[in-house]
Amino acid sequence: MYLCRLYLYAVGTELTPIMRLVILDDYALASEWAAKYICNRIIQYNPGPDKYFTLGLPTGSTPFGCYKKLIEYHKRGDLSFKYVKTFNMDEYVGLPRDHPESYHSYMWNNFFKHVDIDPNNAHILDGNAADLQAECEEFERKIQEADGIELFVGGIGPDGHIAFNEPGSSLVSRTRLKTLAMDTILANAKYFDGDLSKVPTMALTVGVGTVMDAREVMILITGAHKAFALYKAIEEGVNHMWTVSAFQQHPRTIFVCDEDATLELRVKTVKYFKGIMHVHNKLVEPLHSMKN
Ligand code: PGA
Repeated sequence: MYLCRLYLYAVGTELTPIMRLVILDDYALASEWAAKYICNRIIQYNPGPDKYFTLGLPTGSTPFGCYKKLIEYHKRGDLSFKYVKTFNMDEYVGLPRDHPESYHSYMWNNFFKHVDIDPNNAHILDGNAADLQAECEEFERKIQEADGIELFVGGIGPDGHIAFNEPGSSLVSRTRLKTLAMDTILANAKYFDGDLSKVPTMALTVGVGTVMDAREVMILITGAHKAFALYKAIEEGVNHMWTVSAFQQHPRTIFVCDEDATLELRVKTVKYFKGIMHVHNKLVEPLHSMKN
């Protein structure tokens, strides 16, 4: 019985709550692993007109490589987004939708326009809505109408924020208007000519609770500047000052990171998870229907 449980834990069947830490050598390999995982999950779900796959998506520099790979799989004919609905994590408030740094622009330029998703199925919060509160409530309603999110992909900030759930956010928060932390504004200044006065100070964001409701969560963490956040996320307790730590209590979370992001972890944590990479890698093996 014990052995049987151990096996289930390692393989991670649909029934088994599990937290995985997947460690790849570098950013490119981490991006590729994440994209292969998303691809396999969509194909195995077998979506169709009566059964859409719902995917939560992030913006930022981290997921860029993953989107590139997903586009590649689409272009070679392995992956279709025809029966996929997406919900993005967040959007700035007050930035015109067609501003090059809006998350609408990011998603269309870096992903949506290169794949076969129906634009009506790609949901992004409207940071220019007349009633921002109503916009947030409507977003939550649409997620529910889509039968919840199957796989929520996210990134984090060096301060451990997930989406724009800054340190101190409620771990049961829902989609809402947030004032951004100074750290986040400073980090985002690089996208606005380094000019702090141009960086939006508010955003609409899904809550930690919104992401927690997803049936599975995959969090991408790369770079030494995120190492302390990864340590807080997995080696210390759940703490609303590091909102990503909430996912320790999610039944199915995968943290996908590169070596640099593990710099603050204990050697034994890294050794353990690296030692079971052969199990994790089974999840991204090409499926029979794919061109290798
Ligand atoms: P990054 O941003 O991917 O550009 O590092 C992530 C975030 O701040 O959530």
